Amino acid sequence: MRKKQLTDVEVTNQRVLVRVDFNVPKDRDGYITDDTRIRATLPTINHLRQKKARTILLSHLGRPGGQIVESLRLGSVARRLEELLDAPVHYIEDSDWASVRTRLASVKPGEVALLENIRFHPGEARNDAEMARILASLGDIFVNDAFGVSHRAHASNVGVARLLPSVAGLLLTHEVSMISRAIDDPERPFVALIGGAKVSDKIGVLKNLLFLADVVLVGGGMANTFLLSQGHSMGLSLVEEDKLEEARAILEQALELGRHLVLPEDLVVAAEFSPAAARQTVPVDAVPDDWSALDIGEKTVATFVAHIAGARTVVWNGPVGVFEMELFAEGTEAMAVAVAKCPGTTIVGGGDSIAALEKLGLTEGITHISTGGGASLEFLEGKELPGIAALDDAESQGG
Ligand code: 3PG
Repeated sequence: MRKKQLTDVEVTNQRVLVRVDFNVPKDRDGYITDDTRIRATLPTINHLRQKKARTILLSHLGRPGGQIVESLRLGSVARRLEELLDAPVHYIEDSDWASVRTRLASVKPGEVALLENIRFHPGEARNDAEMARILASLGDIFVNDAFGVSHRAHASNVGVARLLPSVAGLLLTHEVSMISRAIDDPERPFVALIGGAKVSDKIGVLKNLLFLADVVLVGGGMANTFLLSQGHSMGLSLVEEDKLEEARAILEQALELGRHLVLPEDLVVAAEFSPAAARQTVPVDAVPDDWSALDIGEKTVATFVAHIAGARTVVWNGPVGVFEMELFAEGTEAMAVAVAKCPGTTIVGGGDSIAALEKLGLTEGITHISTGGGASLEFLEGKELPGIAALDDAESQGG
């Protein structure tokens, strides 16, 4: 990454604003069910503590839409961070800037503060210049360690970066280097496994991966639209009629490029989406009129597993079935096992794929699990992420 790094700047005694992505899942009681994103920022935070910087963390949680939403406060995140750091965190729950400024004045070198959910401010999501100016006045240096939100151009990652010396944090650098290494100079065969409900969410990724990967395996609800575009009747399955042309174009492009885009050959279908549903496995040309496809079938599993087993690089994003219901989880779980077993470099992004790996205790077998969902997808699309673009260039003298 040709961006200035955290290790390139002198931070001792400085007020260092760090954008993190503590957008963690919580259960109905507000308990954090997965703290991976908090743990992933510890190297940056501990580096700053060791260097005796005054660390000021900025994060969003959920989408409060510019107003205070009690259930989206960061109190439980602050407590979890204290446990992980084994050190106190100044949790600044005020959202008026005068109080924030007063509270921050008591943060000493080596200490850590966490501001309240930054999306409680209406200026955040519209990258308001005044909000960016206020944020910049709270720090001397800006560190972006929020890979997960770098596809957004908000005040706390893009606006503020333009006003302060701004560098990439250790997590951001690691994410970019792991994903770039896999897609820029992959060991081949390079197999991409793309699932999820909708083609519309993944068109850009599919198009880009056709150029990069040797084989693109497509499963999940999005495969239905491709199968329909080939003339197969999909019964009551989820399909996107308005994406049929796009699906056909992608299939044609694969042919032109000589790439192997592999669609399911059989599907698990059910009469209803319920744990007690009658289910059967049928070839893709025999989906009953009033049934829906909810998982890939055994033959497809075997084909996909064979491709993954022979790969030297695998990128996986998205489940191949409605895996949150046990009855339709077999395909996705088989993918999780195959990717974890693959001896090559494996990169996984997207909450559902990661959840499948976690459920089976397979995360250790993955080379890199991205903390970014939408961000990792846009990175795979080959897009420039605004949160990264806004940082100082490595050769720049600006910081
Ligand atoms: C994510 O969970 O993907 C990031 O935190 C970004 O969240 P957002 O989609 O609400 O911007």
